[in-house]
Amino acid sequence: MIRTNYITFSYNEVDDIEELNSADRELLLSARVAAKNAYAPYSKFKVGAALRLESGVIVTGVNIENAAFPSGICAERSALAAASSAHPGDIPVVLAITAFTDHGLCDDAVSPCGNCRQVINEEESRNGRNIRIILGGKNKISLIEKGGDLLPLGFNKDSLQINPR
Ligand code: THU
Repeated sequence: MIRTNYITFSYNEVDDIEELNSADRELLLSARVAAKNAYAPYSKFKVGAALRLESGVIVTGVNIENAAFPSGICAERSALAAASSAHPGDIPVVLAITAFTDHGLCDDAVSPCGNCRQVINEEESRNGRNIRIILGGKNKISLIEKGGDLLPLGFNKDSLQINPR
């Protein structure tokens, strides 16, 4: 007997940063500013991520590439690592991501890679708290309710069938 399951999710979109509330606008602008500090000599794709922590503090991250390509790290994970190490216990609640090429701010919203989705998911499950995601392109800004929406049927601590401390 075959069962068909459906996973759906919806997300909002706006065309302009001015349509965001002031806190989200500030966060996306922080990601844009941070992107200037990316080290991306190989891809020339400079990504900035900004995390809003529960206290209101903003922590940013950038992609840091490496001649040994897999040793590079994405902006999202670099922001999550910075927040976790410098602000332990201050839970990330919103993540804004944006990217620039040599031609300037990307037109479309840039979405996190699979590796980052996995790490965002772990952060959500670790804290029992969703992280809202803002994907900020020049002409399109996507607003996603939670990181978990981007990783349906993901592998997580429940998959291990153990209880991590
Ligand atoms: N990158 C990020 O930092 N975040 C993403 O969401 C997508 C990709 C980086 C990795 C690499 O340095 C460059 O962008 C091109 O893939």
